[in-house]
Amino acid sequence: MIRNIVQVGDTVLREKCAPVTSFDESLFSLLDDMKETLRKAEGAGLAAPQVGVPLRAVVVDVEEGYFELINPVFVWQKGEQVGPEACLSVKGKSGIVRRPDKVKVIFQDRKGDKYSLVARGFFARAVCHEIDHLDGVLYIDKAADIRDEEDV
Ligand code: CO
Repeated sequence: MIRNIVQVGDTVLREKCAPVTSFDESLFSLLDDMKETLRKAEGAGLAAPQVGVPLRAVVVDVEEGYFELINPVFVWQKGEQVGPEACLSVKGKSGIVRRPDKVKVIFQDRKGDKYSLVARGFFARAVCHEIDHLDGVLYIDKAADIRDEEDV
């Protein structure tokens, strides 16, 4: 089911999200809906608070694949990249954001099993952006030079 993507100004985007503790049907449907909503919006990632659910769950859909990260935590961050970023909760805008170039994250999957991944480049940027959402942080808090996108 496609869910509504909440927009900047909604307080749920500013919450510190709670850890996921129940790996059950309601989590599965949340994640399935987030995937569907993300695909329809043609975005690179979506965090649960963006669909109004203040839980530590994100989905990322990039060249490297589709990932569901539950309770993600950085192990390390290395290097630096500076590049454009946008957010499905901040329609019609983009900005230049400094991010680590490479990150390692530990997380759980929808069954609660523990994994880790290393992401670099745009994948790392997407992971950092989505994890920020779980702490109520938006890219516009960090961006220089926020501008209107021309083709929106
Ligand atoms: Co976002």
